[in-house]
Amino acid sequence: MYARLPDIDYALARLPQATPNTGPPFTFAYARTALKYGLGMLRLGHGDKVLVPEFICETLIHPMTQVGVAPVYFPVSSTFEPEWDAIETLVTDAVKAIVLVHYFGCPQDVSAYRRVCDRYHLKLIEDNAHGFGMVIDGTQGGCAGDIGLVSLRKTLPIPNGAILHVAAASAAEDIPALPAQPVHVRWKATRRRVARKMARHAPRLTQPDYTSQAAFREAPMPDWSMHQATWDYCCTVDPAHVAEVRRCIYAVWDTFVRECGLEPAWTGIPNNAAPLVLPAYAGNISQRNRWFHWGMRHGVDVHSWPTFPESHTGAHPHAMELWERLLCFPIHQEMDGCALRRFLDSRRECL
Ligand SMILES: Cc1ncc(COP(=O)(O)O)c(C=O)c1O
Repeated sequence: MYARLPDIDYALARLPQATPNTGPPFTFAYARTALKYGLGMLRLGHGDKVLVPEFICETLIHPMTQVGVAPVYFPVSSTFEPEWDAIETLVTDAVKAIVLVHYFGCPQDVSAYRRVCDRYHLKLIEDNAHGFGMVIDGTQGGCAGDIGLVSLRKTLPIPNGAILHVAAASAAEDIPALPAQPVHVRWKATRRRVARKMARHAPRLTQPDYTSQAAFREAPMPDWSMHQATWDYCCTVDPAHVAEVRRCIYAVWDTFVRECGLEPAWTGIPNNAAPLVLPAYAGNISQRNRWFHWGMRHGVDVHSWPTFPESHTGAHPHAMELWERLLCFPIHQEMDGCALRRFLDSRRECL
């Protein structure tokens, strides 16, 4: 049997809990695995369908395919809000749930999703993979759905780590014991170095080909649980502080990208957001590609997102149009906002 986390006084547990009937979260190495077991807890499997925003990464679809659940894609706007009218036309008897994605750590309108769930008797799957530290109505992002995911490893400098929140304690049946994904023995020793590196605008030694949808294509992963060492690290982290620092870095990028003629996806972010990156639109694909080169020249990991499921090819032109113009400017809580501002002041270019 897979044990829930021990009931100890770790920083994550001190956060407001999910809902009155929610216990501590389950941990996994990846949010995709959390979703796989979460679907099981919702009793979803072969023959069932789930509404999923079409602007989505393939890794979220892998667990659905593994358990026989078919995604039904709905369109989102350039601010990543659902096209609600389209959703109404997609609901059938086989559709049992809807996925809400808090894109890039900016909270979505949970109550609008809940209204749709209530009207069509759907379960709400809250995907807060991007927004560790986000708080919604006094609870952690990921706790408002029937199940919710948080990918700790995307926000924190850890090789693995994700959590699954389950709203109905009764549905939280035992999960089989999973092996912990091994962590490189030198991970602890190199953590400080990683943190120092992140402080310098999250550079990469070599830049993947961000102009290609194939750049990050991944095979489905084995089911791993989270390594104790990474959990121990997470217990030292204050999510509220992480979110606050990330919002400050976001503000620096926001000013910069506007001055450079790019259009941030949002006019601003609320003070409960925990931004993963700053998403901004270029005018067209060639301008976007010039920004990838700017990032490479200056050691800044400006990147694209997402890698669509292969089945998207040719089938979701609107999502592809967004991808072709979207740039993600990196945020990490080890960055120093003032240093970043000084750095960017000397590298401002209209490309
Ligand atoms: C919106 C979203 N949900 C879920 C996932 C899966 O997270 P993980 O990589 O921890 O499995 C990703 C991964 O990129 C994602 O972008």
